[in-house]
Amino acid sequence: MNLSYSAPRAWKIFLSRCSGAIITLSLLTAVLNPAAARPPEDKLNYIVKNFCVICHGAQLQGGSGPPLQPSYLRAKPNQQLLTTLLYGHAPAAMPAWAGSLSRSEAIWLIQRLRIGAVIEP
Ligand code: HEC
Repeated sequence: MNLSYSAPRAWKIFLSRCSGAIITLSLLTAVLNPAAARPPEDKLNYIVKNFCVICHGAQLQGGSGPPLQPSYLRAKPNQQLLTTLLYGHAPAAMPAWAGSLSRSEAIWLIQRLRIGAVIEP
């Protein structure tokens, strides 16, 4: 097998599929997400208070999902939290939010959770 030829070709195919998926995802997010026009803080508080609390507890103290309070999150690296939030964790029933949250909204949300600013205890 001629690796010097097939490896770059495989990368090219992989990258072109990735960019297609990213474009589709961002288009879908823009078209299907009615909350997109609202300021992020309203949108993110709305999502947390209506959805995240179902599994993470009314005060984000934990439920079927782990706590999302500052004392718990302190030990968790940003990248881990961001990946779980955007792409979910199917074996543990954490849904993926990449269809509703942009990457920058997800980063902003995690920063807010870290300082306990999303839901007052
Ligand atoms: C259907 C239940 C459910 C909903 C709704 C849900 N989560 Fe989760 N979440 C989980 C579970 C279960 C885990 C644990 C995943 C694991 O063990 O890997 C988790 C993990 C996480 C983690 C990673 C925590 C860690 O220890 O690494 C973050 C961050 C998170 N959720 C944020 C959110 C946010 C923000 C929302 C709302 C947008 C949300 N979740 C909605 C069930 C849920």
